[in-house]
Amino acid sequence: MTGLKVAVIGGGSSYTPELVDGLLRRGGELPVAELWLADIPAGEEKLAVVGAFARRMARKAGAAMAVYTTLDRREALAGAHFVVTQLRVGGLAARVRDERLPLKYGVLGQETVGPGGFANALRTIPVILGICRDIAALCPDAWLINFANPAGLVTEAALRHSAVKCLGLCNVPINMVMTAAKLLGADPADIAIDFAGLNHLVWGRAVRLKGRDVTALLLEKLADGAALTMNNIPDLKWDGAFLKQLGMVPSPYHRYYYMTDRLLAEEQAAAAPGGPGTRAEQVQAVEEALFTRYRDENLAEKPPELAKRGGAYYSEAAVSLIGAIHNDRQEIHTVNTRNNGAIAGLDAAAVVEVNCRVGKGGAVPLPVGDLPAAALGLVRRVKAYELLTVEAAVSGDRALALDALAANPLVPSRDIAAALLADVLAANREYLPRFAGQS
Ligand code: G6P
Repeated sequence: MTGLKVAVIGGGSSYTPELVDGLLRRGGELPVAELWLADIPAGEEKLAVVGAFARRMARKAGAAMAVYTTLDRREALAGAHFVVTQLRVGGLAARVRDERLPLKYGVLGQETVGPGGFANALRTIPVILGICRDIAALCPDAWLINFANPAGLVTEAALRHSAVKCLGLCNVPINMVMTAAKLLGADPADIAIDFAGLNHLVWGRAVRLKGRDVTALLLEKLADGAALTMNNIPDLKWDGAFLKQLGMVPSPYHRYYYMTDRLLAEEQAAAAPGGPGTRAEQVQAVEEALFTRYRDENLAEKPPELAKRGGAYYSEAAVSLIGAIHNDRQEIHTVNTRNNGAIAGLDAAAVVEVNCRVGKGGAVPLPVGDLPAAALGLVRRVKAYELLTVEAAVSGDRALALDALAANPLVPSRDIAAALLADVLAANREYLPRFAGQS
């Protein structure tokens, strides 16, 4: 085959047209000959709809990219050059449970952080490791670009428990660049941010506009109430004195750690009878509307409704990263990869989200040095939770799972962790065979 084979696992996702749009826009630099969309039997109808829509998009763009759909992921993986994982084990129904369950204990319910992220990780990690085994057998040279949430933990698991070449990717850094550009009235291409931290816990350490340090200026704008958030996170305003003391740009997700009580109150109000529902419940409605649009045989371009999702710029991040590897660009991308000394005081093997130089050999983290003590403390706590969670997901060891959940900074006590764990295992029984009989 001349050209690339790209396999998307979770291909029936409502996000896939976003990725297809990106691939078509960058067709010149990324010659994708075959795009394989794979999904599970439960997603068959969605996969057929998305596949047909993707074909219409490719036809309209006049692209030579052939789109295949399959329920056999091994067929999609065979000989692939790039594999994108964007699956959600248990679908949105499981996400609703992840978001609602902790609220019962007065704990934040979110799909990637806190107990919700923990449950998601237990379900997702074994599935991703199964995919890694297939990659090792069917396309050992392929790059795995993981979007599956919680992306940091999933990447940590893939790198610790397989030999697959994996980079974890998230749209938070690119969103922060886009927002900074908007607030500073600048072209995003002129903005550079030094990112460091973990996935959904990444700070912008320095923001530069055409090389000039504008960090303080951006922090002032945020202190004045300018929005720095994403569709899926309430836009609670930052306190100016706190931002000045922090000296770095927090990610939208830092609100879960820095404004825990206020966000919990928001979540409880949303989840209460008569409220709009949790984020996943709101997304269910958006998804339905999206699929109605995708079924329209006259639609051949990604619809504006997609912008209502939290994944804005996801395809831009993915396609430019794949392009950097394929074309050996040696350009800077923010990805999840092994620390290798980039963040001082953190294990070399720990997966971090940092700026990296990316080329055909993969991603090499740029040195970060010291994080401020408070930030490093938080990173270490969350990383301890992540490492325990990965090992619990792999082993199915209930005691380890309790240690993991109790180590999460958003879980107030071991007693609450124990109660939450029992609920998480019971609610997810069908997705957690490794914990069979332990709930
Ligand atoms: C952001 C996060 C993603 C997450 C998404 C959720 O983009 O970075 O990790 O999947 O939001 O968006 P949704 O529309 O599903 O709430």
